[in-house]
Amino acid sequence: MAKTISLINMKGGVGKSTLTVNLAWHFAAYSQWRKKVLVVDLDPQFNASQYLLGVTQYSSMLERGDQTVWDIFESNTRIPGRNVRQLDASTLIQNVITLKNGGVVDLIPSRLELAFSLKNPGHKERQLSKFLYDIKDSYDLILIDCAPTESILTTAAYLSSDYLLVPVKPEYLSSIGLPLLVNSMQDFRKEYDQHNLRLAGVVFNATSEYSPEERLSKNGVRSIASQNGWHIFKSEVSYSRSYPKGAREGQPIFRTSYSRYSQVSKFESFAKEFAIRISL
Ligand SMILES: Nc1ncnc2c1ncn2[C@@H]1O[C@H](COP(=O)(O)OP(=O)(O)OP(=O)(O)O)[C@@H](O)[C@H]1O
Ligand SMILES: [Mg+2]
Repeated sequence: MAKTISLINMKGGVGKSTLTVNLAWHFAAYSQWRKKVLVVDLDPQFNASQYLLGVTQYSSMLERGDQTVWDIFESNTRIPGRNVRQLDASTLIQNVITLKNGGVVDLIPSRLELAFSLKNPGHKERQLSKFLYDIKDSYDLILIDCAPTESILTTAAYLSSDYLLVPVKPEYLSSIGLPLLVNSMQDFRKEYDQHNLRLAGVVFNATSEYSPEERLSKNGVRSIASQNGWHIFKSEVSYSRSYPKGAREGQPIFRTSYSRYSQVSKFESFAKEFAIRISL
């Protein structure tokens, strides 16, 4: 059964989508892993969907009327004049790549309309975990890319997950999302005490070799982490222009043109530490 990890931080722009996509590719493509990975895009902004599929393929998928994660949340919603749509895994799960070595990256894409589910949240939070439960045997790893705001989508992500991974960009106000995350996890554990939700750890993303501001910011994050017994990954994901470039090219950093080996190998160290942490 797949291990399921949500990438989450209540602060935006910290690298949730970037790390989701790069981890997915890493574990599918590297010869020592060859994993079957499913990415679930749980953000109405659909960044991970566009990153993985490319803008053109993403648009044609919507034009074909393929289902998205929105359909999972709305699969029980009765709308007058519209038949309840049966979920169809064959148009819901998009294959991003099947590698010769056996590794796979699949995607359940998102779309803007997912935001409508937030307006009428009524008891939809279990829909995703139910859907994933039925397909978990087909994958080794499921990565859920969360939106930066708390909603029923957050509860749905928690209910589906074994672990949370929290990317943090060490900069001014970097710790702002963390108290919100602490509260959110506490509220969840109170309400769903039978669900064992663990924190894989905090990973510093987009770090540079030397910056006094960064050091201050990391200290703030470390103090919140230690108060809550959170693990901080020793490996950091360094700042590299190859990450946004890779997003534009639709490639992970190790396949992005002219990416530097030193940057790639830093990501590899993080991926290795992450794999040990979640016993992949
Ligand atoms: N290590 C890095 N080095 C350089 N740029 C990075 C790095 N990680 C992420 N970025 C860039 O930072 C921006 C935000 O990253 P990303 O979209 O992954 O964050 P996010 O947490 O998913 O944001 P949101 O909360 O809006 O979903 C993107 O332009 C991305 O390319
Ligand atoms: Mg994102």
